[in-house]
Amino acid sequence: MTSHIQITFPDLKSHLSQGQGQGHTQDNVDVSKGLQLVDIRRQTAPTSLVPLILAGLRSKERELPGLLLWNDRGLSLFDAVLESPDYYLTRREWSLLCAAVHEIVSTIQSGDRLIELGAGNMKKTALILRALQSQRKSITYIACDVDCVALRRGIRYLQSLFPPTSSGGIRIQGLVATYEDCASWLQHSPSPNGNGSRTTLMWLGNSMANYTTSDAASYIRAFLSTGASLIVAVDGSKDKSEIARAYEGPANQKFVMNGLAHANELLGAQVFDARDWGFRGSWNQNTWMHESFYVAERDLVVTVRGEIFEFRKGDRVRSIRSGKWPRSKMVSVCEEAGGVVVDCWVDENESYGFYVIEERLRRCL
Ligand SMILES: C[S@@+](CC[C@H](N)C(=O)[O-])C[C@H]1O[C@@H](n2cnc3c(N)ncnc32)[C@H](O)[C@@H]1O
Repeated sequence: MTSHIQITFPDLKSHLSQGQGQGHTQDNVDVSKGLQLVDIRRQTAPTSLVPLILAGLRSKERELPGLLLWNDRGLSLFDAVLESPDYYLTRREWSLLCAAVHEIVSTIQSGDRLIELGAGNMKKTALILRALQSQRKSITYIACDVDCVALRRGIRYLQSLFPPTSSGGIRIQGLVATYEDCASWLQHSPSPNGNGSRTTLMWLGNSMANYTTSDAASYIRAFLSTGASLIVAVDGSKDKSEIARAYEGPANQKFVMNGLAHANELLGAQVFDARDWGFRGSWNQNTWMHESFYVAERDLVVTVRGEIFEFRKGDRVRSIRSGKWPRSKMVSVCEEAGGVVVDCWVDENESYGFYVIEERLRRCL
């Protein structure tokens, strides 16, 4: 029989309070009604996005922070994107996962920790945890997301499917955190179960490809340096018309335009008038990314915290990007990060893939 020390909520908290999670808050703990949720954001005030808004507007290629899209309303709008018929990623990822989930999770062992980055609505998570359960593995699953409301909702949903048992099984916890917060928390939070138990980070929904290849490589490097391995799901579509339909349809436009409303909320003023801004999407051949933009519908002067920004009609401000990286691209991104793809599951045209990534050095030991 496998023996392991059961991680309990105080363990999670003590990782923060032992001074290991430097700079993290320690009191943002929610254990109400069995919910095991810790807020480790280093910048908890939503207004911490304001300097990023200003920096983005000052930059040569104007942009607004992608994090503006992920408030509670943004996540509801994103659920509508996930369900829209044109958003092919949902179907492709789901069918690949259904076909290969038992293999994909096969390297996760009893006593391990599984942390999901940007967990969102956790519908796919349920399938993954079900597979681990059927393999009779005892796992600590930790959902990490910046949006606290969605995290709470998702954890409750998973807890209803996997009620706590005294004999181990699947234990469900949450971290309110950005990817950066999570990487730095992990540096100081070795797998709590000892005995060679490991941490696997799971990054689904093509979220990693919201970053440029060099930023994605930096994230991978940071995560691998904690000793964890990664399971990522990345879209590799080469079909420009299906990409345009997925990212430029009405559901996605609403989702992106909510970023301006969220910016106004944070700035406490109607800085971006929805009537002055439109949506445009385009494919960037150099970066292999689809890019969504806010476009000025007329000449505009926008004032943010006393600073004046001028826009001519047609000027663009970038919002979110979404990379489309086939297997060869993923291999090179991982190499750049000092990692190696040790296993992968791709569909027929390599239009979607699940990749298991480990640190190259560790692999050679
Ligand atoms: C593209 S959605 C993917 C959701 C889910 N994993 C899926 O596959 O359907 C991205 C998720 O990551 C979260 N997110 C976005 N940026 C983040 C960041 N910098 N740190 C932590 N979570 C983030 C969002 O709140 C959202 O839930």
